Amino acid sequence: MKETIHSYEDLLIMLDHLLKESSEFNWDQFYSDRERKVPFFENHPDENLVDYMEKSRITAGKALELGCGPGRNAIYLARNGFHVDAVDQSAEGLDWAIERAKEQKVQVNFVLRNIFDLDIEEDTYDLVYDSGCFHHIPPHRRMDYISLVKRALKPGGSFALTCFAEGGELGGAGISDWEVYRGRSMRGGLGFTDEKLKGIFRDFTAVEIRKMRDMENETKQFGKSALLAALFKKEN
Ligand SMILES: C[S@@+](CC[C@H](N)C(=O)[O-])C[C@H]1O[C@@H](n2cnc3c(N)ncnc32)[C@H](O)[C@@H]1O
Repeated sequence: MKETIHSYEDLLIMLDHLLKESSEFNWDQFYSDRERKVPFFENHPDENLVDYMEKSRITAGKALELGCGPGRNAIYLARNGFHVDAVDQSAEGLDWAIERAKEQKVQVNFVLRNIFDLDIEEDTYDLVYDSGCFHHIPPHRRMDYISLVKRALKPGGSFALTCFAEGGELGGAGISDWEVYRGRSMRGGLGFTDEKLKGIFRDFTAVEIRKMRDMENETKQFGKSALLAALFKKEN
């Protein structure tokens, strides 16, 4: 591989590599054992997503899910009348999602791709949803992430995410962005506070930022108070 930087994209690719080289983690491997006791392996939608639907904070339309993994939220949205494009870079994760959707006779357009390689037409979606992907996005990709969400959403559309709360029991490194590069590590996922989220997504209107509610398995919803749930709107 050439190691000369001619463009901003070359710089981003170099930083991706520097972080990847020092990490053993691999999402395909992570999904290869489906029996592991990983909280989000249950096929239950996020409690905050259900709450937004029930309170009509979001209404059926076109949805894009970023980092959908085994598809639990994409399937929930499709069941509730959304046309869903759900993207993930892990083939193992998407195979699982496709199997689940077939079993449940639900139509979702699953796309195997890095979210930064998507070619999205402007103002396409009513909802962009992200559960647990954003906290794995390295700081140098954050500006592209925000541009992607902005571009993808229709004016008035909603952007919702769940992410690690800083110092939460599931992870959520409370480190600065610079520290990611000093240590060449995301430490398993970055942690956020509501202030940090408001700052990062300041071009959107914050509708609600709160801790996720802890949910028991019988509720058939996923929720862990170590995560934050945030809902934003793109202004008209
Ligand atoms: C913690 S998992 C969450 C999966 C799913 N949203 C859920 O909650 O069940 C994070 C997912 O984000 C995906 N991901 C991370 N970075 C990505 C990127 N740049 N492009 C596409 N997918 C990405 C990973 O492959 C992984 O499936």
